[in-house]
Amino acid sequence: MSTPTIRITGGYPLTGTITASGAKNSVLKLMAAAILAPGSSHISNVPLISDVTLMAEVLEYLGASVVFGEHEVSIDTSGVQRHDAPYELVSRMRASTAVLGPLLGRFGQARVAMPGGCQIGARKIDQHLLGLEALGVEFETEHGYIEGTAAKGLRGATVVLDIPSVGATENLIMAAATARGTTRIENAAREPEIVDLAGFLTTMGAHIAGAGSPIVEIEGTDRLYPVAGHQTIGDRIEAGTYLAAGALLAGPLTVRGVDPAHLEAALRKLEEAGVEVSTGPCEVTVSRQRPLKPLTLQTQPHPGFPTDLQAQFMVLAALGGGSSLIIENLFENRFMTAFELMRMGADIRIEGHNAFVTGVPALSGAPVQAPDLRGGAALVIAGLAADGYTEVSAIEHIQRGYEGLVEKLQAVGAHIEQA
Ligand code: UD1
Repeated sequence: MSTPTIRITGGYPLTGTITASGAKNSVLKLMAAAILAPGSSHISNVPLISDVTLMAEVLEYLGASVVFGEHEVSIDTSGVQRHDAPYELVSRMRASTAVLGPLLGRFGQARVAMPGGCQIGARKIDQHLLGLEALGVEFETEHGYIEGTAAKGLRGATVVLDIPSVGATENLIMAAATARGTTRIENAAREPEIVDLAGFLTTMGAHIAGAGSPIVEIEGTDRLYPVAGHQTIGDRIEAGTYLAAGALLAGPLTVRGVDPAHLEAALRKLEEAGVEVSTGPCEVTVSRQRPLKPLTLQTQPHPGFPTDLQAQFMVLAALGGGSSLIIENLFENRFMTAFELMRMGADIRIEGHNAFVTGVPALSGAPVQAPDLRGGAALVIAGLAADGYTEVSAIEHIQRGYEGLVEKLQAVGAHIEQA
């Protein structure tokens, strides 16, 4: 049996409204955080994507019961007895390492396989481990596993991160929630998903100040309680992907269900490219009357331009009239999409962290392969804008993070199908 592909006939305008699903990068951490409070926690606005299913598998393996409803999930963590996340699961999704902090917080013990995940660079977890060590955890690494034990329980401490790692900030906030005393994280990541996680933990009874700023303070508490209801924030990266598509195909295209404040850097770049952008309380509309202009952008931790939208914006640059420069500061292998775009006629030169893109008048449809999650989505929107027929393979990468991508794009006029 042949593996599924996404087939696109390019050049059709995109107009109408797409609703963004709940944020993948938020909900995975919320699900892991449920471990901290024995009992049943309930999360809504849950995207139907394979990474969520995989996180449910991780939680079930640990002993939790996970029940999905329509875009919602109930997680009963009363029965969690295991403290280990096996290689078979962690190797399929790096975000499984989000159970490290909550397992240490609840049991003082955790054993997690060294992560794999997206093929977008080395992706170390040294900052997670250094921070947790400061909270009193001793780590041993053997046979591909990291085993952490807090023999005397977790205690608050000041942690200064070398880089504002999203995953490290989240693991530290979760572990610190039940530590004795106060934890101060300096140079913390400021992503909206961290604010969402802090909100979830606060509903559990945690005391957290400063989430979304570079300094987060957590005053540990003895007991956390399950969350009766928490709505996941909208997915700013999914939204940004559709906005890039709308910008390419002229729009007007509206994306609902996302906070425009979470997309500020990306919206600024769309305007620089000559796209008209308007925002409402929970929506963004793009349209374009003029040719695309070239772009200069570099990926940065939030509130800078997100690395998760770099590949999609490279498609805009590929069709921009002139020379664009894209600098990838976060992940070394995140230019793999460029090589597929070149097969569609894009003019891109890669030198280390820099991509020099010279705009071409048109891309031409071709068979291409999704290199990773965001790169796969970028190839789909390149196909929408290209002349003729594009077939994207290895779409399991895209299914990790985009719920109903084909259906959502069909509904706004794209000629796209999964076969
Ligand atoms: C999260 C997101 C991912 C996004 C990334 C950056 C999830 C599930 N994934 O990944 O989509 O692209 O944030 O916005 O939320 N690093 C270290 N040591 C560490 C931790 C990170 O050197 O201990 C490096 C990484 O190799 C990378 C950079 O720091 O170069 C950023 O990583 P980090 O912010 O931790 O990203 P993730 O949490 O893995």
